[in-house]
Amino acid sequence: MKTIANYLPLFISLLFFSCFESKENQYDKAEDIPVTREMIAELTSPPNVPAPIGRRSAKKLIVKMEILEKEGEITDGVRYVYWTFGGTVPGSFIRTRVGDEVEFHLQNHPDNKLPHNIDLHAVTGPGGGAESSFVAPGHEKVFSFKTLNPGLYVYHCATAPVGMHIANGMYGLILVEPEGGLPLVDKEYYIMQGDFYTKGDNGERGLQPFDMQKAVDEKADYVVFNGKVGALTGDNAITAKVGETVRLFVGNGGPGLVSSFHVIGEIFDKVHIEGGDKINENVQTTLIPAGGAAIVEFKVDVPGTFILVDHSIFRAFNKGALGMLKVEGEKNKKIYSGEIRDDIYLPEGPGIQSMPTTDEIVESDIPAKSFEEQMQFGKQTYIQTCFACHQSEGQGIPNAFPPLAKSDYLNADVNRAIDIVLHGKSGEITVNGEKYNSVMTKQMLSSEEIANVLTYVYNSWDNSGKVVSKEMVDSVKNKK
Ligand code: CU
Repeated sequence: MKTIANYLPLFISLLFFSCFESKENQYDKAEDIPVTREMIAELTSPPNVPAPIGRRSAKKLIVKMEILEKEGEITDGVRYVYWTFGGTVPGSFIRTRVGDEVEFHLQNHPDNKLPHNIDLHAVTGPGGGAESSFVAPGHEKVFSFKTLNPGLYVYHCATAPVGMHIANGMYGLILVEPEGGLPLVDKEYYIMQGDFYTKGDNGERGLQPFDMQKAVDEKADYVVFNGKVGALTGDNAITAKVGETVRLFVGNGGPGLVSSFHVIGEIFDKVHIEGGDKINENVQTTLIPAGGAAIVEFKVDVPGTFILVDHSIFRAFNKGALGMLKVEGEKNKKIYSGEIRDDIYLPEGPGIQSMPTTDEIVESDIPAKSFEEQMQFGKQTYIQTCFACHQSEGQGIPNAFPPLAKSDYLNADVNRAIDIVLHGKSGEITVNGEKYNSVMTKQMLSSEEIANVLTYVYNSWDNSGKVVSKEMVDSVKNKK
């Protein structure tokens, strides 16, 4: 016969667990959550984030953030002096939980030229900490705050001129997880948009100083993710496997522009709107204000490269706001078929689309000073103009666009090649024994650019090694 004594261990353990469970829930106010022990916060560089908080109790969390003013490259050949929190743009990611008591150490490196401070939007207090953290080079300021509200928050420098300090890269994200932590996902990444203003135009080489007037006018030369063009493309792309759930902590440092954040070929299953508690579902594009953030989550169902953009689309394709998520795994033809057929479609009318005549193109380029520069500039033009059809290694696309690599057609006649770039081409041609019948439009390129891009093509992928000059292009141009 069972007595109450048989159940005693169960009662005791239930009692124990219920006490344990409710230990922190008993605090109505986050300010009353006690902290136990102290720990050094793990800080990470973008696109990485520190390990999830999970169920850890509130702690005294020591954050040591070093300010570094350092030169970097905003895009190929364009250098810029960034001001950074932790040596990167955006600054180091800080991960906390509600009830943590953050002891913040802001260190201004002795080699820096300017004083700085920090305004964390997660702080309840004057200036978000800015008033207590103004720090000269070679000094460290310490202040502390209690995290009262869960959410994803921007931090930034707030030293005058504030816009200039932010424009130079002084922003980052601090996450305050709710009690019990965010639900676990497979992959988490840290992405932050920013707009940059340089004395020279987009792409103008050399060390570019900040341009205050362009910043005031909000005429950005670069709009980028994670501080530079290409920070999240090619080998720097973020990755996931089919079936995984991806969570992106997305911020916008500004200083000037809002972001229409979108991932081409994906739908956000969940968006923590503006980084707060409210969750929207099935979202295509989410608005991220300057000085704001959002948490977006989605499961990746099919393999491929998914492009992250600010859907103010010229910013993506012309100013740099473009990243990549590469997903590997099994195809799922129920979800996405891929190309099923490529049929011939011949409408009536002109075969070649009308583009501006090459005479309208202004010759404003700085001429390449050497073969190496021709190759370098030519490669840039290739990536912007030719890459989509002829592909990264000049391999072309079977049955659609002829290869440029080891191309007998290309290598046989340089003037014909120049003519095609200048005036376009339609009708059947045979390249390396394969027939192609596609349309190439006239290209909106200057003679200098055509010379450079053809030199790049002729000196890549086992081609003939011919060097094309501006004069050769002009002589073909003038024959017409
Ligand atoms: Cu600053």
